[in-house]
Amino acid sequence: MTHVAVLPGDGIGPEVAAEAIRVLDALGIGHSEHAFGGNAILAQGDPLPAETLAACREADAVLLAAVGLPELEGEAVRPEQGLLGLRKELGVYANLRPARAPGIDMMIVRELVGGLYFGAKGTRDDGTWFDTCEYSRPEVERIARRGFEVAAERGGRLTSVDKVNVMHTSRLWRDVVSELGARSYPEVLLEHALVDSFAMTIVQSPQTIDTVVTENTFGDILSDVAAAVTGGLGLAASASLGDEGPGIFEPVHGSAPQIAGRGIANPAAMLRSLALLLSHGLGRFDEAAALEKAVDTALAEAPTPDLGGTSTTSDVGDAVLRALEAARTL
Ligand code: NAD
Ligand code: IPM
Ligand code: MN
Repeated sequence: MTHVAVLPGDGIGPEVAAEAIRVLDALGIGHSEHAFGGNAILAQGDPLPAETLAACREADAVLLAAVGLPELEGEAVRPEQGLLGLRKELGVYANLRPARAPGIDMMIVRELVGGLYFGAKGTRDDGTWFDTCEYSRPEVERIARRGFEVAAERGGRLTSVDKVNVMHTSRLWRDVVSELGARSYPEVLLEHALVDSFAMTIVQSPQTIDTVVTENTFGDILSDVAAAVTGGLGLAASASLGDEGPGIFEPVHGSAPQIAGRGIANPAAMLRSLALLLSHGLGRFDEAAALEKAVDTALAEAPTPDLGGTSTTSDVGDAVLRALEAARTL
């Protein structure tokens, strides 16, 4: 029996997860919910309880909404550590973040379990605090390979983004990507870009971008920029994949504490993440395509405040279920 582990998390997380759960139920897909993030810290002192990790490992796929509580920001034990820990434990090193709007169709392939967020960090005797960015050749090669493969299935163009003019790790990054491209993916047109000016390219000419591969921190930041130019964080979905085992399917956005509890969060990013789960995680391609389409229909019919409308989170869910029924997917 197919089983999805659902991690609703914090803030708007449970609100948008509820709409995804309605779709899972309508499709007859089994699921269970597990404590994760800030709520798990408050209840049991651990953002990634052992029970939650075990359930994720056993599932066919993980559907994660968002974590983060303002009262825990900057504390020693934080919700975000649970998210980083889960990604590391499941080995999901490749985070695919599509950004689409009329005339724009880009895909950011973000390295997800290395670099600055996972390197040695601490405080020295002289009072200096530090984080370090480290990458090994195999870590760069596996994400580069994923980038080339995604590009080959799309428009055949890959932009590798780094900071080779300053960062030591970027020199390794650029060498590995170039070598792999020349050796194994001659059909993919490879370009390199520096992260600062590439951020400007995303804002000024997003329609020129096909597939992007980049390291963890740059991908984190650039994917929010890409979301901003394609309708906002309420729409941006992602798939976090390894070589085997369950993937994590998660919106790009966070727990949005300013709008939490009001029932107005846009569930589209979450529902599109579920569509990625159906296709990449479960191989249910027809249902994935139908859900993508249903979300587009629902957004046109019932836009939430982030899109200039007045619909609620559950209005969008209602419209999605209606559209799936109309398409005879249910
Ligand atoms: P955020 O993504 O939560 O919010 C940024 C802006 O986008 C806010 O204006 C918010 O209202 C809006 N927004 C986000 N999602 C929306 C949605 N579905 N519908 C409508 N509007 C939406 O980023 P932040 O405010 O920087 O972070 C808040 C918390 O979330 C922090 O604790 C952070 O660590 C956490 N966070 C978690 C994840 C995750 O769980 N994957 C991702 C990013 C941030
Ligand atoms: C994201 C988030 C996370 C990240 C944080 C909350 C750990 O910003 O998924 O984009 O940096 O990966
Ligand atoms: Mn982010």
